[in-house]
Amino acid sequence: MTHTTRIQSDETLANPTASQRMTTRQRPPVLVLGGTGKVGRRVADRLAARGVPVRIGARSAAPTFDWNNPATWSGILDGAQSVFLCYAPDLAVPGASQAVQEFTEQAAAAGVARVVLLSGRGEEEAEAAERLVRHAPLPWTIVRCSWFAQNFSESFLLDPILVGQVALPVDTVTEPFVDCDDIAEVAAEALVDDRHAGQLYELTGPRLLTFDDAIQEIARASARPIRFTTITPEEFTAGLTAAGLHQDEVSLVSYLFSTVLDGRNSSLGHGVERALGRPPRDFADYARETAKTGIWSSRD
Ligand SMILES: NC(=O)c1ccc[n+]([C@@H]2O[C@H](COP(=O)([O-])OP(=O)(O)OC[C@H]3O[C@@H](n4cnc5c(N)ncnc54)[C@H](OP(=O)(O)O)[C@@H]3O)[C@@H](O)[C@H]2O)c1
Repeated sequence: MTHTTRIQSDETLANPTASQRMTTRQRPPVLVLGGTGKVGRRVADRLAARGVPVRIGARSAAPTFDWNNPATWSGILDGAQSVFLCYAPDLAVPGASQAVQEFTEQAAAAGVARVVLLSGRGEEEAEAAERLVRHAPLPWTIVRCSWFAQNFSESFLLDPILVGQVALPVDTVTEPFVDCDDIAEVAAEALVDDRHAGQLYELTGPRLLTFDDAIQEIARASARPIRFTTITPEEFTAGLTAAGLHQDEVSLVSYLFSTVLDGRNSSLGHGVERALGRPPRDFADYARETAKTGIWSSRD
């Protein structure tokens, strides 16, 4: 497949205007790994809205991309101008930083001009991956994020919220939940603008909340009672298993709650202001907008 053919087949603009059609034919695509997930989907949408051609990297995309199958890596990099590097399921899983290093080296060898790494705040394993990317032979930007607000609407916390009872192994610890829309806006900027090369952005929301505070914001916004209770780590793990989560997911979520949510992230970062020149979105705004979609309407 020629370079030009590849770029044309990667166009993802639903209804491109004539000028966008010209632009997408001339420009190589941005590769968005995890491009169907919470952050990647939003990054891809923002790039497409600017007329930037996007190639999605995911197991469900065509061609398929799988972190666990290096044979799928080189094809996806062919002709890409820059890469949004989202490792799945999480940078905390064993082998993640080695995969990130090998993928970044392949990207540099393939002529990719820059990489934007999605990283986690307060995670030793994520910081190991960051160090490897910072030493890679291509320009980089790191978006180091606190706990995503969208974990409450697009992840494992949605079901307990719908039931009206959320039980977690956390008590008074606070977290500056960050909105995935803010992360995606910073990442999309960094993928197309050299100004962000060599920057590490700590992305958090503007306010520290306990998990109970966050649940009560959601209860208020969706006008229904939701109870929060603190449970032991053992009860939490048993509950996730009983809810049918795969053992790998149970281990990962339990690990993240027991290590990252110990108060180490109870401070605000200023990456959104630094990158975008505006404050981050507050959790209450996220809760209000998300409630309007009906996703938290109870199941009864
Ligand atoms: N959740 C948080 O609070 C938080 C905070 C800081 C940092 N992070 C970081 O954010 C990243 C996850 O981002 P997210 O929450 O936006 O993702 P997500 O919503 O969990 O979606 C995962 C994405 O990756 C793809 N994927 C899953 N397994 C894959 C595999 N083996 N190979 C290739 N692609 C795969 C999925 O598509 P397919 O299923 O089609 O493959 C999907 O596009 C992790 O690196 C994590 O460390 C998360």
